[in-house]
Amino acid sequence: MAHPRHRLAAALLGATTLLLSTVTLAVAQPIIEGERFHPAVGTHGMVATSNTLATQVAHDVLAQGGNAVDAAVTAGFALAVTQPQSGNIGGGGFMLISDEKSGKVIAIDYREKAPQGASETMFQDEHGNVIADASRYTANASGVPGTVAGLALALDKYGTLSLAQALAPAITLAENGFAVPQLFSDNISQARERLTQWEATRKTFFKSDGSVYQPGEVFKQPELAATLKRIAEQGPREFYEGKTAQLLIAEMKRHGGIMTLNDLNAYQPALREPVHGSYRGYDVYSMSPPSSGGAHIVQILNMLEGDDIGALGFNSAATIHLMSEAMKRAYADRSQYLGDTDFVNVPLAAITSKAYAHSLRAQFDMQHATPSSEIAPGQVAPYESDQTTHFSVADDQGLAVSNTYTLNFSYGSGITVDGAGFLMNNEMDDFSAKPGVPNAYGLIGGAANKIEPGKRMLSSMSPTIVKHDGKNFLITGSPGGSRIITTTLQVIMNVIDHRMNIQAAVSVPRVHDQWSPEEIRIEQGISPDTINLLEAMGHTVVTKEAMGASQSIVIENGTFYGGADPRRSTSAAMGL
Ligand code: GLY
Repeated sequence: MAHPRHRLAAALLGATTLLLSTVTLAVAQPIIEGERFHPAVGTHGMVATSNTLATQVAHDVLAQGGNAVDAAVTAGFALAVTQPQSGNIGGGGFMLISDEKSGKVIAIDYREKAPQGASETMFQDEHGNVIADASRYTANASGVPGTVAGLALALDKYGTLSLAQALAPAITLAENGFAVPQLFSDNISQARERLTQWEATRKTFFKSDGSVYQPGEVFKQPELAATLKRIAEQGPREFYEGKTAQLLIAEMKRHGGIMTLNDLNAYQPALREPVHGSYRGYDVYSMSPPSSGGAHIVQILNMLEGDDIGALGFNSAATIHLMSEAMKRAYADRSQYLGDTDFVNVPLAAITSKAYAHSLRAQFDMQHATPSSEIAPGQVAPYESDQTTHFSVADDQGLAVSNTYTLNFSYGSGITVDGAGFLMNNEMDDFSAKPGVPNAYGLIGGAANKIEPGKRMLSSMSPTIVKHDGKNFLITGSPGGSRIITTTLQVIMNVIDHRMNIQAAVSVPRVHDQWSPEEIRIEQGISPDTINLLEAMGHTVVTKEAMGASQSIVIENGTFYGGADPRRSTSAAMGL
């Protein structure tokens, strides 16, 4: 089988226009008694986040007349206080905003950037071998953060609140504290050894005797409150040019980091065209590079569109086989082509074309798994934590927001900025430390994703908005590292193909295949018979821990349905 580059080139040369089945199903959101899953319901709007307190403050904004962008930005800052393992101001992410009135969907790219002092080989030793922890647990693991600039840009373009108003609930939560949930205590206990080596982190996130805050105990963050107040008073550039910037750079320097004040001064978010595709008559908008998410969600949907997935059945062996074959071809392409389009050419139109997908679908053998080695060479890497976070918001004015942001690992690099009270990301690990060597998620990157000064590292984050007949229909996305793409894909398929209500769609068991390692990873809940059938086709099927945490919304006939992912005990969807 040809290498991905050759497969794509051949498909582009030989492609003819293709008629695929595009059956439009009327999707209904049943919430009748007897359903096993019940979404939250609202008539004026919906908020779904991974944290009850963040959902509540965003819901309050909508209830007081704010729009979906006001509520989303408020939730983003609140999560930076209440969910420090992933909510952040020291990281970055992506936001999609759909405005039904203008018909526009815009993407805000506030992904971190490599500092100017970064270089292609900075995480390699003198023999050219990758020093894995250097891109994960050091000051140089951090990219220049984008969250404050990105959220402020969204508010400026589409919001009605001032930045100070959007920050106010977060400041209150940081100043007065909040009773920590079980998940907060569990997560920080698990990361304790790694986190307590950093003095400022120990001081900020642990009790004075070094112990962990227990469920129900009140956790206050006075330094973070002061940082957020400075930003509220002086504007978003304070983070990049003011006292916060100075504290941040002092912390980086203290630990031998290369980031400078110039790097912070130069940081700007970017407005991007989202990736646009279609699936069975629905318009799918998702994140464009430097995220690979949108490209591969659309590519996989294109490969699946010609088959009647609904009739084949939810998580049947035939459906999982098709999904696995499509997923691994997409992840093989990811390893070759995807990177920051400010630096490299990404053949996006080709990857997302129906014709290319048809040429890939034609390679599937419905009886046998295609070995990954026949798609392209691969390597195995261990699984690591994936504490990104996603939230979705929609209002009754036709605005919808899908936002995914992250520090990369839980608590990022583990380094807290002393005096400013926030954690730094370890997003530099999302670059290819060396082309062909997998990152923490087992994802292999090519030269397109090599480290370059000022470049954004490739992401899988996939904030997605699906429209139907010009109306916002499904707002979705997920954390999950390399599983973000396939988790988001399955929420779309569950709603459109399997006609599930949104709470069911985010709850049911998921599967994942990323081409390397050679396995279909499944959650508990797939029957042994199904696994036997897949194994008989030549698939390796491995049950591992749950994947993703998709906080999603469906809007149908003016009613808002919210799905809070049960994989996070703090998830909450709230309608009004
Ligand atoms: N750090 C995970 C991602 O951006 O995909």
